[in-house]
Amino acid sequence: MAGITKHKRLLAWIDEMTQLCQPERVHVCDGSQAEYDALCQQLVEGGTFLKLTKRENSFLARSDPRDVARVEDRTFICSLSKNDAGPTNNWMDPKEMKAKLTADFTGCMKGRTMYVVPFSMGPLGSHIAQLGVQVTDSAYAAVNMRIMTRMGQGALDVLGEHGDFVPCLHSVGRPLSAGEKDAAWPCNPDKITIAHFPETREIWSFGSGYGGNALLGKKCLALRIASAMGRDQGWLAEHMLIVGVENPHGERSYVAAAFPSACGKTNFAMMVPPQGMEGWKIFTVGDDIAWIKPGKDGKLYAINPEAGFFGVAPGTGRKTNPNAIDTLHKDCIFTNVALTDDGDVWWEGLTDEKPAHVIDWKGNDWTPMSTTPAAHPNSRFTAPASQCPSIDPRWEDPSGVPIAAFIFGGRMSKDMPLVFQAFNWSHGVYLAATMGSEATAAAVGQAAMRRDPMAMLPFCGYNMADYWSHWLNVGRRIPNPPRIFRVNWFRKNENGKFMWPGFGENMRVLRWILDRVQGKGYAVESPLGWMPRHEDLSWEGLEYDKNKFYELMGVGREAGAAEARAHEELFDKFFDRLPKELIYERELMRSRLWRSPDHWELAHEGD
Ligand code: GTP
Ligand code: SPV
Ligand code: MN
Repeated sequence: MAGITKHKRLLAWIDEMTQLCQPERVHVCDGSQAEYDALCQQLVEGGTFLKLTKRENSFLARSDPRDVARVEDRTFICSLSKNDAGPTNNWMDPKEMKAKLTADFTGCMKGRTMYVVPFSMGPLGSHIAQLGVQVTDSAYAAVNMRIMTRMGQGALDVLGEHGDFVPCLHSVGRPLSAGEKDAAWPCNPDKITIAHFPETREIWSFGSGYGGNALLGKKCLALRIASAMGRDQGWLAEHMLIVGVENPHGERSYVAAAFPSACGKTNFAMMVPPQGMEGWKIFTVGDDIAWIKPGKDGKLYAINPEAGFFGVAPGTGRKTNPNAIDTLHKDCIFTNVALTDDGDVWWEGLTDEKPAHVIDWKGNDWTPMSTTPAAHPNSRFTAPASQCPSIDPRWEDPSGVPIAAFIFGGRMSKDMPLVFQAFNWSHGVYLAATMGSEATAAAVGQAAMRRDPMAMLPFCGYNMADYWSHWLNVGRRIPNPPRIFRVNWFRKNENGKFMWPGFGENMRVLRWILDRVQGKGYAVESPLGWMPRHEDLSWEGLEYDKNKFYELMGVGREAGAAEARAHEELFDKFFDRLPKELIYERELMRSRLWRSPDHWELAHEGD
């Protein structure tokens, strides 16, 4: 091992983890193609992977049906003080958690290989990047980490002999006794625990092999630990996509957008401009996480700390997201999707027509007559970002891209308009902090509707009220902070149909947002914020009735008042730490609603 790195702390930690977990062997990953191929081959032989005959160098994995998504009620922020984790995080005393987990981890890798996975979140050597080292007994996690991060020798080289790294301990929690046959998807569902230690910057994850529970660079490091680093060091770690928009004159701007899990980040990040907006181009920088730092020029610069997409499969099709489909043609891992008879993958929404027969995500026969979905609703693809046709030429720029606007959007089937703009930075922080969203399949056991501040509810590594203060401060410290917008693609009519076509058509909203940022776009004041009138959006190529638009943009006074009460309930949880600005913003919103008609419509304002 000493031949691979001379980093004393790393060597000591690997040693300590080996003694704790007692693996049969240790494999330090170099990140090479040969190593990746060998690990995939081994996963095929062990029954975890199925090689797809119809897709170059790609594999299908089926997880244990008890291990299919993030488990929020088993995820902990173990800060020294409970109040530093805040009312929205599960908390346990760090000493107690370590004692509990030390018992779980003792001997947990018996009969298995311990992979040591060094990785960089962010381009190698970028001043915004951070290094981590994950030890794991899951070869599945190791190969996914190679797609999702800059993994292997390159990361070790940047680490050198004295560099800093976040130690990430992971086990599926299923030691093997001599001669025992391994499960295709080993896990320990009853004992899943994902623990974060923000003060000492450590991650311990036990029992799950799936997604954000197991690929520790992603949610655990790049959001929960990084948000705490950002608080201490004056930057932001956000659950945001980053997208570049080029107008027909060739001028490119970048925006970052926070939508909760499974609410359209991947689609928005690689959107194809609709008919009538030819000449506009979209460039993808990232689809899930943004690290944002103030630059010397006073602008905010963002990098995508990841190197791949871990995207929701269902709903991704040639019509809804052609760039994602074209990203997936080779070198991908699919988890919990269906297998077609000719050895390819399928999921709901991939094609208009359902195949006559597939093997579903549980390994059973499935036909269009079946009453259960063929792919699990949280089934995912792991794909290299470099393969995305819309990838931005600057996506690996170590200094990041300048952010012109922040967009926040939940999944709201009622009452929430398509788009509006915050009056100023602190109003924008209020709009983001009070965002509501309806449940998706990305995490198990979610309430039907919940507040998901900045789409960070499951990912903020410290007290959410302190996080809001941090946001207020970031805007205060720079001369001309990005404008802030709220959007909602998911409003439904009385028949339960989406009122807005969404996907590529969201480009019309994005264009208005950029117009506003550049001081060119028009808007009127609504009780919620600045809103475009029908004539302020570009409608070329889309028939969208003016009255329908005003319905989509309407604000009910009663519904608005109910929103304000829900915000109050959210804020009450934070009492002592809640920034006062947010209370005043809520009262200002109430005052505007009081003065407005029962049902405020843009139609009252226009012509
Ligand atoms: P995570 O990876 O979980 O953080 O989520 P994400 O925000 O990247 O999720 P993703 O983009 O994969 O969202 C997937 C779901 O959103 C699919 O069911 C899509 O069909 C749906 N979706 C995306 N964009 C739109 C839209 O504009 N309108 C509607 N109605 N649905 C959309
Ligand atoms: C999310 O749930 O927001 C994801 C998927 O991006 S996971 O990495 O599994 O958390
Ligand atoms: Mn996400």
